[in-house]
Amino acid sequence: MAEDGSGNRNAVTDNRTTEGTARNGAAGDHTLTVTDNRTGQTYELPIEDGTIRATDLRQIKTGPDDFGLMSYDPAFVNTAACRSAITYIDGDKGILQYRGYPIEQLAERSTFLEVAYLLIYGALPTREQLDAWRDQITHHTFVHENVKDIMRAFRHDAHPMGMLVSTVGALSTFYPEAKQIQDAAAREYQTYRLIAKVPTIAAFTYRHSRGLPYVYPDNDLSYPGNFLSMLFKMSEAKYRPDPALEQALDVLFILHADHEQNASTSAVRAVGATEVDPYSALAAGVAALYGPLHGGANEAVLKMLREIGTKDRVPEFLKGVEAGERKLMGFGHRVYKSYDPRAKAIKQVADDVFQVTGVNPLLEIALELERIALEDDYFITRKLYPNVDFYSGLIYEAMGLPMGMFPVMFAIPRTAGWIAQWLEHTADEEQRIARPRQLYTGPLDLDYVPIEQRTK
Ligand code: CMC
Repeated sequence: MAEDGSGNRNAVTDNRTTEGTARNGAAGDHTLTVTDNRTGQTYELPIEDGTIRATDLRQIKTGPDDFGLMSYDPAFVNTAACRSAITYIDGDKGILQYRGYPIEQLAERSTFLEVAYLLIYGALPTREQLDAWRDQITHHTFVHENVKDIMRAFRHDAHPMGMLVSTVGALSTFYPEAKQIQDAAAREYQTYRLIAKVPTIAAFTYRHSRGLPYVYPDNDLSYPGNFLSMLFKMSEAKYRPDPALEQALDVLFILHADHEQNASTSAVRAVGATEVDPYSALAAGVAALYGPLHGGANEAVLKMLREIGTKDRVPEFLKGVEAGERKLMGFGHRVYKSYDPRAKAIKQVADDVFQVTGVNPLLEIALELERIALEDDYFITRKLYPNVDFYSGLIYEAMGLPMGMFPVMFAIPRTAGWIAQWLEHTADEEQRIARPRQLYTGPLDLDYVPIEQRTK
């Protein structure tokens, strides 16, 4: 280990913080000195933006045949895989910004389509840009009739997320030019199509689960208004969405639009890095979002609230959580170690929606869970707070949606974030095919054993 002069032996010295250690002036101030105690050799690694490059570790070898040092980071807990200018999160302070704009301001003053533009193009649109963008999205909302046939082929009780994964992937077969990912015009078209068509497919999954005829888009309505129409229109000539629900849905869409390098976005980036078309890359994102630890958590929260059943059973349920028997779904986050700012905004939306729909009776249980958990040592010491999924399911249920639709409601707006991240990734010259390393732990050089000679 490196001697630091005080008798302490440190393998690694951060020269930004250790007085007297920086030997190379200004450059040395931004380096990390590492001593490999296997060889006694010392290396100086540059620190840039608070990181060292994992590939810089490869020069640290015990001999010419040594592969070189790697970093081991299961679940990517401390590895930055890209540079991104899209979404900023400060998990300790509970800050979330899209392209530098605080989420609270966007939720209060913007619209989802404007936010989608902001995420994708990097700046708020002018009036003309917004009109042109809205026009493009509105005119791509219809899907090929065969898409309907694909969806009709699913079982009557197919999970809507399973249908969404498959149908988003299937879109690539309708737009083979989407493979030309180096062509800016082709990328632009797939962007319009994905943002326009995912709500149509999402609404069809709901109609399918209800055995109802699919409703075509109504291009006179707003983005959330049209979605409500495709969900709920029956025999009326024109569906008129409740303005409060339309507004609430738009805010929910804004809050879910992007969240930097989460599991589904990482899936989109990793699959996109193979240079496959964006429909296939986004299908991977939808699949990742389906999981109960990610976008499927809103569904899991509702199941949990139903299972708890009554407010007086909350303490007993939380005892089970503390004993490690189960998780409190809708709580905790890899990045937020304080209140998720989206969860705060969603509570406000819940109030607005419940004024129209009536209060979801499960709200009482959710509030009691939050109240007790926030005062409880288990949750305080682990910094576990409600996340975006804790209250969203209650709202969707009050709107009349079945649980299986909740993650679909997350996927619609996240499509904008996935595309923004995919576009950024595609333009990033530092990126190549994503290919992590492994630490092999299995046997080597075994001789093949014929089946008759094998024993258990
Ligand atoms: N209930 C009970 N304990 C929890 C929970 C929870 N929801 N979340 C984390 N913990 C505990 C965990 O057991 C661990 O305890 P210990 O140190 O004693 O082993 C500690 O808190 C740290 O948790 P972790 O598992 O290291 O955290 P992670 O970053 O790997 O996982 C998470 C993050 C979101 C997957 C996890 O908090 C979780 O499973 N939450 C419930 C599912 C959920 O609500 N997901 C939605 C996430 S937000 C929206 C989205 O991305 O879709």
